[in-house]
Amino acid sequence: MDQIEEVRSKIDIVQFISEYVPLKKAGRNFKGLCPFHAEKTPSFMVSPERQIFKCFGCGKGGSVFNFLMETERIEFGEALRILAKRVGVKLVSYRSNDAEIEKEKLYQVNHLAAEFYHYLLLSHPVGKNALAYILGRGITKESLQLFKLGYAPNLPNGLQKYLIGKKGYRIEDLSKAGLTSSQNVNPFDFFRDRLIFPLKDHRGNFVGFSGRTVGVWEAGKSFGPKYMNTSETKVYQKGDLLYGLEITKEAIKKQNRAVIVEGELDLISSFQVGIENIVAIKGSALTETQVKLLKRFCDDITLTLDTDLAGDMAARRGIEVADAHGLNIRAVRLPEGKDPDELARKKPAGLKKAIEEAIPVYDFYLESSFSRHDSQKPEEKKKIGEELLPVFAKISDEILKSHYLRQLATRLGVSEEAISGQINKLVKKDFIAVLNSALVKSPAVQSRRQVLEEYFFCLAIQGKKEDKLKEVIDEELIKNPALLRIAKAMPDIPPELAEIYNSFYLYDFEDKIEDEKWLEKEIQKTSFELRKLTLQEKMKDLSNQMAILEKQGKKEELEKIEKEFQAVSLKLEPEV
Ligand code: UTP
Ligand code: MN
Repeated sequence: MDQIEEVRSKIDIVQFISEYVPLKKAGRNFKGLCPFHAEKTPSFMVSPERQIFKCFGCGKGGSVFNFLMETERIEFGEALRILAKRVGVKLVSYRSNDAEIEKEKLYQVNHLAAEFYHYLLLSHPVGKNALAYILGRGITKESLQLFKLGYAPNLPNGLQKYLIGKKGYRIEDLSKAGLTSSQNVNPFDFFRDRLIFPLKDHRGNFVGFSGRTVGVWEAGKSFGPKYMNTSETKVYQKGDLLYGLEITKEAIKKQNRAVIVEGELDLISSFQVGIENIVAIKGSALTETQVKLLKRFCDDITLTLDTDLAGDMAARRGIEVADAHGLNIRAVRLPEGKDPDELARKKPAGLKKAIEEAIPVYDFYLESSFSRHDSQKPEEKKKIGEELLPVFAKISDEILKSHYLRQLATRLGVSEEAISGQINKLVKKDFIAVLNSALVKSPAVQSRRQVLEEYFFCLAIQGKKEDKLKEVIDEELIKNPALLRIAKAMPDIPPELAEIYNSFYLYDFEDKIEDEKWLEKEIQKTSFELRKLTLQEKMKDLSNQMAILEKQGKKEELEKIEKEFQAVSLKLEPEV
């Protein structure tokens, strides 16, 4: 048994979850109010037999590890450590592999470099000018310490002298960390004469740096770009990082919302005036990695925007990704030309108010588009449609999508058909499908067959009536291939079907499932319904065939099918 199994086997999931959520016995299972979403009637089920949980409201489910990861928003390794400690399993510290050792070394080099830069900014004459500049921008000493800002001196190899000369690192270590430029024989320090923002991942590892020009930056006049960032290394990929998260994640969790700003200084300034649930994306659009990371800490995000969203394809893509991962997105448009940094300094109350009053991002798109175009004029209507339809069509929640498409139709004073018609001409196929389905189709309902088949499986599996299951399958009453595969494979369920299988264990029969008589009757009733349904389907099929044969004038064949039809319909007579 491996260590993960050992830990799992020593924990009783019911007892463990009870410490978080009151659970009540419900037949073979336990149930309670789901801790992961708001509900008034319990749909959160725990199975002691399978040692799993599932919420039928929000869909979250899994093992005790998943439960802990979800409630504490931690990763698997951390959950394993916590649970191992609880049950007294001593985890044999697995030997780190070469890649891990190398990463660890990069964190260390970066950490020392950060300390070096930080010391120079706060305590060395060489950093005096930079210190005056950053304090002059209203960043406090406490913030400088909290975010460990630094200064890289204007020397060809000041950092190298420290890390190699004093700390015993090799030039390769620095180059792998992106702290030196190029593979020259005598490489320069990468950051020179710059204000340094160490970049940490959410666990606090030093993964890289941003270096800002000291003072006002002017294109053509200043040396180099305004910001230089660590190039890609084994521990830093641009676009993965959320600046500040290590420090702000608790506030984000607590408020279940993250405010998103562009830059490091926007973040620090806002943080200083009390906006603590905040991260910076460093001037780029939200990426999938960032979205997934955020989703572990909150369900809502508020974007602060200093440009107009409509024309910003990168931002739009970021919103799409965030939406697809189930984040609720709000947006706030800051006054023309103002960034959060400036507002935090000049009008902190205004900044906070604006953030509190952020509106759902799709309303934001609507308002923006309608404010720039005169929706009375036909050709402007077309422009609005071109701007908004591609955005709305990508909304993942069908109800929301339909809401916004309808809003658009109403405000343009056109029919919904007109909108989908217009789009047909504008964009490619798959997109039309998305849109049409949003406008026309009602939400998918489970078919009666699906419901009956699954209900039968729940009964047979929880009631341990494998023989009854075999009977209905032999009678060919079950059509769903996934269910057939499960029945055939039992008890060794293929991993891709495990979730469906587990859900059969969790269906809430309450205490009735322990009542043999009830169970027998319920199984009989359900198999009877399945049989009836199968016959009805058969009759429908036969009557279709009859219609075709009649048209074709194939008398003999028609007669044959008619007989079959009668035979089937006789079977359908109600049982007495
Ligand atoms: P800003 O230009 O707003 O930075 O870029 P700033 O320091 O706030 O500028 P001023 O002082 O108000 O004029 C926002 C963010 O975009 C990234 C940085 O992360 C910065 O914090 N950026 C900007 C870069 O990565 N490279 C650049 O050349 C410029
Ligand atoms: Mn700025």
